[in-house]
Amino acid sequence: MSTTPRTDAAEETAVPSSDATATTQEEISAEIAEIAAQAAQATPDGQPSGARQPRIDYPPYRSSILRHPTKDPRHVDPETIERVAPCFGHRDVHPLEADLTIGAHAGTNSAVSGEPIGERITVTGRIVDGDGRPVAGQLVEIWQANAAGRYVHKNEQHPAPLDPNFTGVGRCLTDANGDYRFRTIKPGPYPWGNHRNAWRPAHIHFSLFGNAFTQRLVTQMYFPGDPLFALDPIYQAITDQKARDALVATYDHDRTVPDFSMGYRWDIVLTGSGRIWTEPEK
Ligand SMILES: [Fe+2]
Repeated sequence: MSTTPRTDAAEETAVPSSDATATTQEEISAEIAEIAAQAAQATPDGQPSGARQPRIDYPPYRSSILRHPTKDPRHVDPETIERVAPCFGHRDVHPLEADLTIGAHAGTNSAVSGEPIGERITVTGRIVDGDGRPVAGQLVEIWQANAAGRYVHKNEQHPAPLDPNFTGVGRCLTDANGDYRFRTIKPGPYPWGNHRNAWRPAHIHFSLFGNAFTQRLVTQMYFPGDPLFALDPIYQAITDQKARDALVATYDHDRTVPDFSMGYRWDIVLTGSGRIWTEPEK
């Protein structure tokens, strides 16, 4: 691939400090509940004060305390950046790059060319703007943990098995209707260093490039009914329930592939009042 998907493996799986490991899930959950109660209080105009975008300084998500920006962002000239940034074209993205189930060594004549372990899923959806118009030709990249909850990343050290047949990265371009489609393995939840026994809900990271690299958006797709939602400070950093729901895919039996895979649908709204949550720039 000509681009390297950003991974959150480093920040989500950093070796926990003694302070972090001393904090219990109960203490984190109490902090989450206190902030949620504040967010639920109505403002003078009668609207909930919960924001659709995550709080960048969200104390239950421990590393956000030090990582969030404290000054206004500086504007740069996009044209200057685009002159030196990498670029891609239709010929650069092969259709097989959207299939993460074909094995990490497919086509390399490697002796290791088996299929990855796990529940095969098809993830599809439509990318639209705030007026519901499809966004065609959009570069969509994904990266994710394997079925055991393990990323292929040097900073990922928790003792779940790597899958030699699964890289966890893929990409595609949206078609004329704004539709994207991936075939992959359902990722597992994984522990991270935020507090003692902290686990992330299963998720797939998405990157959307827009028409230029300076427009890149990064977000996460979750799976319906995950019991870890209530415990996860990253998911809870978004205090508006509708905004959280927009990040959760829908099981769609029409998107299953007979005798092959389960099916999920996740549509992405890029602009307007229904815009999905995206990670802040670092
Ligand atoms: Fe992750």
